[in-house]
Amino acid sequence: MKLKKRNNILLIVTGSIACYKSIEILRLLKKSGKSVRVILTRSAERFVMPLSFASLGAEKVYTDNDQFIATENGTSLHIALAEWADYILVAPATANTIAKIRMGIADNLALSTIVAFTKTIFIAPAMNVNMFENPVTAENIDALKKRGMIFIGPEEGALANFTVDKGRLTEPDKIVRFVCNATEEKLFKNKRFLVTAGATRAYIDPVRFITNSSSGRMGIEIAEEAKLMGGYVHLIAGSILTEPVGMDKIDYVVTTKELFSKTKEAFKKSDILIMAAAPVDFIPKKTYPNKIKKRSHLNMEFLQAVDILKSLQNKDNKVIIGFALETENIEKNALKKMKEKGMDIVVANEVSNMGSDRGSVLMMDKTGRKKLIQDKTKREIAKEVLLFLKEFLDKEV
Ligand SMILES: Cc1cc2nc3c(=O)[nH]c(=O)nc-3n(C[C@H](O)[C@H](O)[C@H](O)COP(=O)(O)O)c2cc1C
Repeated sequence: MKLKKRNNILLIVTGSIACYKSIEILRLLKKSGKSVRVILTRSAERFVMPLSFASLGAEKVYTDNDQFIATENGTSLHIALAEWADYILVAPATANTIAKIRMGIADNLALSTIVAFTKTIFIAPAMNVNMFENPVTAENIDALKKRGMIFIGPEEGALANFTVDKGRLTEPDKIVRFVCNATEEKLFKNKRFLVTAGATRAYIDPVRFITNSSSGRMGIEIAEEAKLMGGYVHLIAGSILTEPVGMDKIDYVVTTKELFSKTKEAFKKSDILIMAAAPVDFIPKKTYPNKIKKRSHLNMEFLQAVDILKSLQNKDNKVIIGFALETENIEKNALKKMKEKGMDIVVANEVSNMGSDRGSVLMMDKTGRKKLIQDKTKREIAKEVLLFLKEFLDKEV
């Protein structure tokens, strides 16, 4: 199965202090080979000049003065732009524009185009933390997510008033990387994914813990890709090195026990579980309440942590994808694990994949299908895993 990409992106810039970053977004989209047209709202024009975008390769730059000008073939500009664009990216998106999108207000060129647009819309908000946490803004964002719009950020970081808080525009390179991965096909429309990622910790004392070298990258790439392919994605993350983009919901956990209880709860509302987390398998028999003082020896006994997949009760036969990290007899051991843990698909991994950008995996499903993916980036592997899943689901019907 080959996924088709589309190239025409309409970048809508609204009146935030982060407007200057939209110039970098344009530059990076152009560098990725996209055709970009830009609309600036009247407020955005107070922060950045149309000329900056035109000079950096925007195919066309529109302002509100263009709203009532018909295009050459007589179509209104907002209708022509909605037809031309494959994706709309609103970055930065103000609280004001988000609220208006929710209400279907169309009182400027950007909003009229959005109301007339039927394809994927990405929204990257940027605002002061109180504006972001205002219940009305939160409700608006939730409602738009439910309607299929994909939110990128905001993230925690330095805001315009020099405080560090949530509301900062996601960095341009991250926004562009995410948007450029978007594909035309929405293979998982109406499917609810639960993805787990990252390592858990088992504390020995208040400051020391055991863990493993998982970066969470594989799970995050799968979660992001599932979102771009049209799914609803709930991510449960242990310790991860990169902040995921575009998620519908994220929960953070520390221990394997927490990962289990959150997964068990969220599993009830999901159609597909992708268990890419690397939970710590052993927990200390005794956890010290105070920091252990220096000493010449420390003997510790470990117990087995809860086995999440074995302990989940899959009463409704939901689809489960699990990972198997093996050092020997990869295929045989992974198949055994798939059966023992009630998985539908197993992705067998080598230790060398951990923490690395590239890797090779062997995917197998319970119907006997097998596919080897060699020396690909984690993003490419994530795509392959989801396409393998799609074929499995299509076969099942
Ligand atoms: C200096 C300054 C910075 C602003 N930054 C933001 C911002 O980051 N996010 C936001 O939602 N609104 C911000 N605003 C408020 C918006 O500009 C205002 O709500 C405006 O009406 C938005 O119009 P638009 O959504 O049509 O672009 C800022 C206003 C000023 C004066």
